[in-house]
Amino acid sequence: MKTIGLNTEHLQHFIGNTDIAAIENEVISAKKTLLDGSGKGNDFLGWVNLPAEISQDEINNIKKDVERLADKVRLFVVVGIGGSYLGARAVIEALQSEFAMQDTGRKFPYIVYAGHTLSEDYYCQLMQVLDKQDYAVAVISKSGTTTEPAVAFRLIKSHIEKKYGKAEAAKRIIAITDARRGALHDIAVQEGYQMYVIPDNVGGRFSVLTPVGLLPIAMSGYDIDKLLQGACDMREECIRNDKVEENPALLYAAIRNLLYRKGRKVEILENFVPQLKYISEWWKQLYGESEGKEGKGILPHSLSFTTDLHSMGQYVQEGERLMFETVLSVERPQQRIEIPSDEKNLDGINYLVGKTLTEINHNAELGTILAHCDGGVPVLRILIPEVNEYVLGQLIYFFEFACGVSGYVLQVNPFDQPGVEAYKKNMFRLLGKPGYADK
Ligand code: PA5
Repeated sequence: MKTIGLNTEHLQHFIGNTDIAAIENEVISAKKTLLDGSGKGNDFLGWVNLPAEISQDEINNIKKDVERLADKVRLFVVVGIGGSYLGARAVIEALQSEFAMQDTGRKFPYIVYAGHTLSEDYYCQLMQVLDKQDYAVAVISKSGTTTEPAVAFRLIKSHIEKKYGKAEAAKRIIAITDARRGALHDIAVQEGYQMYVIPDNVGGRFSVLTPVGLLPIAMSGYDIDKLLQGACDMREECIRNDKVEENPALLYAAIRNLLYRKGRKVEILENFVPQLKYISEWWKQLYGESEGKEGKGILPHSLSFTTDLHSMGQYVQEGERLMFETVLSVERPQQRIEIPSDEKNLDGINYLVGKTLTEINHNAELGTILAHCDGGVPVLRILIPEVNEYVLGQLIYFFEFACGVSGYVLQVNPFDQPGVEAYKKNMFRLLGKPGYADK
């Protein structure tokens, strides 16, 4: 099967072979540190072997839950925030139709999200939809104590119990959390919910290939075996090959650190197909939380083209030269549509007649890359043969492995997130949470 790869052609004016050679030892040593578990945060390396080690029983249980619920419900609410929802959303939105909500003949439930916001209007609107639709819920929190999903789940638990009665509601709720601890664990045990465990040694943002991501993805009807196979194959490639120029994850880690050292403090992940927007959201969390610490780290940003060429395109072309771009470049679409001819040609686009949208989009992509390169922005391309489960599995593992290596090259702990606590302390004090008055 075709695999993802990197195209470095448009970096030539910014990074030379000698630059790569100069950072090679650091990258290889960071990879070794990651694989022998001798670096910072080494108690959170469970994700490294996850795709190869996930148990068949766990996968079978997920599939049984899908069988049990998929026919019965039209909506499936995924309650979670950060690493407990972004991975699932990234894969689901990459694979499903932009108009999936409109598809009344769907075989699998449509996923809606909760626990990722505290907006009152959002929950009122969600409850109005849940009043009318048959639904089930997965509540996902590793710590089991995060405020946003706890608040959302309290609202939804009350709604689902009123709608179906306590006993039926309990059959429609799945909890994904710690094996032993946390409020969510205790609620799930007391109420008798179906439970899945997030392994202790896998941090939230690296958890998409655990039930955190796999259950919602399977519930939407996508093939988690293929997703895991893609991740497995990419893992082999990442681990096996010590040549930086040949190993895409090592090359990506090398390039971003070289560009950072040359003053490129912002990386913009760009797509030319809107279904990859949530891949960027997931990637931003992965890299932002892993590297943004100790006053260091590339700022991860994202844009969707060609939409944002008509807004942020101006800045990228002519604004301050502080960024580099990483383009998610998709070769083949799932479907084709050609530009039809029009006798009058009043819109002046008859020169495009017979071309597919992808041909036009690829030219927009190349035109953009050349323009930005001329404007002094280094551009790296990640070549994606097509968007399917197998390729997304590869992409996920590629980004995760590169993130671990890149974080070690930057000399930070890529697996903690101490900064996330600061806002919580203030919020708890302001809300009068017991024990926070003097914080
Ligand atoms: O990557 C992380 O660890 C965080 O983004 C968490 O996933 C997020 O804060 C949610 O935490 P929890 O799953 O404990 O509710």
